[in-house]
Amino acid sequence: MTDLELLALAKEAALNAYAPFSHFRVGAVVVAADGTRYTGANVENSAYGSAICGEAAAIARAVSAGVRKIDTVAVACIDADTAGYPCGNCRQLMVEFDVDRVVVAAPEGPRVHTLEELIPFGFRLP
Ligand code: THU
Repeated sequence: MTDLELLALAKEAALNAYAPFSHFRVGAVVVAADGTRYTGANVENSAYGSAICGEAAAIARAVSAGVRKIDTVAVACIDADTAGYPCGNCRQLMVEFDVDRVVVAAPEGPRVHTLEELIPFGFRLP
């Protein structure tokens, strides 16, 4: 699947977002090392701080299915015309599973980053 196709899948996943508070629907796709794909969407809560990001939801699905190495995370928002970058917490979640590539939906098309670019010096237990 191309990066453009991954972002299309992320946008489709965003349709299931539960975002009645921010109205900012985010979808994400995790591509595991074996090529299996897992989607996720943000899940908000009346207790605002309990919200789960789209990337976190997709990572949780993948890891719950046994994935321990992630090749790519693609993320798209369907309610804004700007590039929607993963938050700091999601970047740290990605560090744990050795994400190689992060694909972000931007107005001009997919932007591809290494995780090192997005979170240099991410935390790892010694
Ligand atoms: N959100 C994500 O799903 N991913 C991010 O990387 C940043 C923010 C969600 C959380 C919340 O539901 C909404 O976007 C507004 O912050």
